Amino acid sequence: MKIAVAYSSKKGLIQEYRKRKQIQKIPGDEYFAEGDSIKTIQAVIETLLKMGHQAVGIEADNNAFQKLSAEEPDLVLNISEGLTGDFRESYIPMLCERLNLPYTGSDPLTLGLCLNKMRTKEILGFYQIPTPAFQVFYSDNAMATEHLIYPVIVKPIAEGSSKGINNRSVVNDPTAAKSVIAEKLLKYEQPVIVESFLTGAEFTVALWGNGEEVEALPIVEICFEELPEGAWPMYSYEAKWVWDSPDKPLQIFQCPAKIDAKLNQEIVSVAKRAYYILGIRDWCRIDIRLDQEGVPNILELNPLPGILPDPKENSCFPKSARTAGYSYSDMIGRLISIACRRVGLIENINAPVYRS
Ligand SMILES: Nc1ncnc2c1ncn2[C@@H]1O[C@H](COP(=O)(O)OP(=O)(O)OP(=O)(O)O)[C@@H](O)[C@H]1O
Ligand SMILES: [Mg+2]
Repeated sequence: MKIAVAYSSKKGLIQEYRKRKQIQKIPGDEYFAEGDSIKTIQAVIETLLKMGHQAVGIEADNNAFQKLSAEEPDLVLNISEGLTGDFRESYIPMLCERLNLPYTGSDPLTLGLCLNKMRTKEILGFYQIPTPAFQVFYSDNAMATEHLIYPVIVKPIAEGSSKGINNRSVVNDPTAAKSVIAEKLLKYEQPVIVESFLTGAEFTVALWGNGEEVEALPIVEICFEELPEGAWPMYSYEAKWVWDSPDKPLQIFQCPAKIDAKLNQEIVSVAKRAYYILGIRDWCRIDIRLDQEGVPNILELNPLPGILPDPKENSCFPKSARTAGYSYSDMIGRLISIACRRVGLIENINAPVYRS
């Protein structure tokens, strides 16, 4: 098959930033946290080549439409989180829709909804899926968050990779909340969402498949004991990108999670419901946390899960897939098989099937 890998590189994000702001100086690493590293892009392309596919990389920039149109791939493997705006993750899928090209993963609507934490939670709430209580702030003049149970966490409404989620994001009272809300509104130039902070155990579930065939891979538990003293128990920006490095990895994942069968089943069941309700296709990673009663709550859905190739780097989807017996290339192969099956393309990759 001819497969185009659509990505948004860190380099591309930096170029876009310079062009838009008309300045050379760039902000710190956090600003570009969502971008794909060259290492990941190359690993995906090399994996496809080794599998015998033709592979071509396409940056999700202004030329993407032209390139996709000229290349006419059989399938677009979409890992692109896009360059600008709150609908950036929908960009490549929109181009594929226009060009009538099959692509992996969710459609533009689902990607747009899942990037917006407020809309995601509204939909989950409609279907009575547990998710932390929340309030959205468009300015810091609005009433403080009295109806929420403290502590609360203040997050930008449409970011990923824990951008804007640091140790200062969790606060114990409305006065502190007001000041962090003001700070985040200014810094991230978007509304902020304030949620009751759940202090129970945290899990993330990698799922893949469609319809009746959706499967959960082994659950990953986030181990907060590994965090430095004084850190709030959460998988913050610091925990993902500062305190963790390939040469000194933070042992923050336990996979499979050491939980009993009942909790395992409850987590998988709520994750699958959220997957169906949000209209996820092919694959997704879903973040879940237990509330005071031990009930699994959905924090958010990641329909474009990170797939860092190096097992020494913490990356939940590949970690969970490895635990189920899938190498990196098995994982990519299975994703392609799942997408091909959905769109009616034949693809004979015999990756083992893990059943939860
Ligand atoms: N309401 C909450 N209660 C408790 N912890 C929370 C809550 N919201 C977020 N967190 C913590 O902050 C982390 C990051 O939050 P969230 O998953 O919403 O951010 P993100 O930037 O979308 O993450 P990702 O890297 O998965 O895209 C969570 O993994 C969790 O540890
Ligand atoms: Mg998350």
